[in-house]
Amino acid sequence: MWENIVLEKEGNIAVLSINRPRALNALNTKTLLELDEALESVSKDGEVRALVVTGSGDRAFVAGADINEMKDKNAMEGREFALLGQRVFAKLQDMPIPTIAAINGYALGGGCELALACDMRIASSKAKIGQPEVTLGITPGFAGTQRLARTVGPAIAKELIFTGAQISADEAYRIGLVNRVVEPEKLMEEAKNLALKIASNAPIAVSLAKQAINKGIDVDLSTGMAYEAEVFGLCFSTRDQKEGMAAFVEKRKAEFKNE
Ligand code: CAA
Repeated sequence: MWENIVLEKEGNIAVLSINRPRALNALNTKTLLELDEALESVSKDGEVRALVVTGSGDRAFVAGADINEMKDKNAMEGREFALLGQRVFAKLQDMPIPTIAAINGYALGGGCELALACDMRIASSKAKIGQPEVTLGITPGFAGTQRLARTVGPAIAKELIFTGAQISADEAYRIGLVNRVVEPEKLMEEAKNLALKIASNAPIAVSLAKQAINKGIDVDLSTGMAYEAEVFGLCFSTRDQKEGMAAFVEKRKAEFKNE
């Protein structure tokens, strides 16, 4: 269906791969537009409860936005390209289901930004992560200046962005950029197991918890807490809340139906 995106469903989880391995999965306009469509189709699929995002091949997650496509752009075209990437990554961030980046190799520039738009990040021990844009004469453009600073704090984000340095997976773990580091051959198993564990919980509650956390990052504490009270209340109008609590009282495993 798409040339540069592979989307596979495995039960109630899905794996989306950026698939341009010969260009180390660099993001050109076509790939961003296909990613947009693929995310839309996952969002609309009522069965998928968690999404793993990764890169095809064994070298790269995504080695950035496509430099060949960008090299002759003027200021207006550069801005348009940033807005496209930002819009698609915002869609990824706002997915109703949890998303996990399985960082299987280089995650540079737009690749680091893609991982940052996911809810969680697991890195292979051979991953290399960074924002090398200033080495090319540009700033990050797919929200790296914003999400990296929110994820690791402004001082560490500034060091990474100002130096353009590539850091190891262990260093990324140390600064809180990735949730955990695993051996390369265990990466997909680990990411899928995390997705499956999440998928076994009450989907509406998981989705509302995601929304509350995401909203809370952008607003003051009292606004965030007010939103939390709203979604907490909303949970009590779901069948899954009745099922989850009944199962606890009856000492059995809950069977959630996403309703
Ligand atoms: N865009 C386009 N093509 C890319 C690419 C990119 N970002 N990264 C790698 N490729 C291509 C290479 O041009 C090469 O293609 P050819 O075989 O046709 O020459 C192929 O992928 C393999 O790459 P290398 O030969 O360079 O592989 P290597 O092992 O020597 O180096 C690397 C690997 C260190 C990742 C190196 O490819 C590299 O530095 N890539 C660019 C990384 C980068 O600067 N990313 C940021 C881009 S800017 C950005 O992302 C802006 C934004 O925020 C939106």
